[in-house]
Amino acid sequence: MTMQGFRGEILSLSHDPAEAPDALRHDADGLLVVEDGRIVARGPYADLVARFPGLEVEALEGLIVPGFIDAHVHYPQLDRIASHGEQLLDWLERHIFPAEQAFADPAHASAVAEAFLDELLRHGTTSALVFGTVHAASVDAFFAAAEARELRMACGKVLMDLGPEGLKDTPASGVAESEVLIRRWHGRGRLTYAVTPRFALTSSDAQLAGAGKLLADHPGVLLHTHLAENTREISEVAARFTQAADYLDVYDGFGLVTQRSVFAHGIHLPDRSCARLAEAGAGVAVCPSSNLFLGSGMFDFAQAQRHGVRIGLGSDIGAGTSLSLLHNAGVAYQAGLFKGYRLDPFRALWLATGGSARLLHIDKDVGMLVEGQEADFVVLDDKATPLMARRTARATLDERLFALQVLGDDRAVRRTYVLGRCAWDRDALGCVA
Ligand code: GUN
Ligand code: ZN
Repeated sequence: MTMQGFRGEILSLSHDPAEAPDALRHDADGLLVVEDGRIVARGPYADLVARFPGLEVEALEGLIVPGFIDAHVHYPQLDRIASHGEQLLDWLERHIFPAEQAFADPAHASAVAEAFLDELLRHGTTSALVFGTVHAASVDAFFAAAEARELRMACGKVLMDLGPEGLKDTPASGVAESEVLIRRWHGRGRLTYAVTPRFALTSSDAQLAGAGKLLADHPGVLLHTHLAENTREISEVAARFTQAADYLDVYDGFGLVTQRSVFAHGIHLPDRSCARLAEAGAGVAVCPSSNLFLGSGMFDFAQAQRHGVRIGLGSDIGAGTSLSLLHNAGVAYQAGLFKGYRLDPFRALWLATGGSARLLHIDKDVGMLVEGQEADFVVLDDKATPLMARRTARATLDERLFALQVLGDDRAVRRTYVLGRCAWDRDALGCVA
């Protein structure tokens, strides 16, 4: 691939702005120089362009930000989004487990994986930490589809030996199938494997111990599960694991709380859990639209910040109501305010990019649009609707970003680039790659 230049307004965060006030990087008229899919230079156009004589430069209209990184999502639940009427445990039984049973058919898994990745790109998401189903072939289907598109993705087979009939493995088969998948996919191209026990209630002690052994035996893989999402779930966990200090302690007892662990939700955590998460360097994927949709509760940003817990942003489809991390950032603001926390729009952008990248341990490669990183980026249109155009006219940068989060979604994603290649072009009405 030859060298390419992209000229436009570029915005990214190099750190969590709650910790580092100088984290914002904004080039009002910027240049991104990309060679073989990697960023080789970024800065003000006027300063940089002379260094690259003959560079072919494409002008991009809109706000160029890093590709969004969804820190928690279930691809097999894509077609169960907007399923009515239940909180978590009943919703799983009534809507989700039947949908996941269909993934016993690899052709179905492949078709849904393709549709899911199309949707991610349409929403500006270029990386994600993804649940498969209990079927190993669901993960093969997902990784094959991601690899064909050269996407940076993490996924894992769900471990659930206490699941319903037709949707369960055993401690031995779960470990054996995970081992095969790790050998086949982990570290191949842009792919990462995540050991994925569904949650404490669907795994026996033997299976949770097996998950801990997988993590210990394969130091590079991630751990991905759910934590403290729903009050009835939490009561059932407390009733079964009477020796554990709290829900997180159940996972800790099996070696599952590490700096490579990502816990979805974490909305009902005692201070003890937050302190332990911070000590371990583990991450929480905040999933605000899911938490509202299932009536689960609201994430306590102030508590997490007090303890120094690492967080990122997740859509948690199918419980989430949109794959758009712009939309989820807007909901995060509203949920945060309900608990007295004002989520700053720049911090929300950080959570959807660098924050999630850190959780997935891919922050060396993506999330900040800095030299040396891969050129996964999105071009946002803050005038995507007539009302957005009115609201963002003569607005400051933080007002425009906030309007994108409160009013924007996939309509505001003009283009999505993967390794410097355009993979979604809204105005061409299709994927051009
Ligand atoms: N807890 C266990 N499984 C699930 C799931 O599929 N979605 C959500 N939101 N929570 C869970
Ligand atoms: Zn989930």
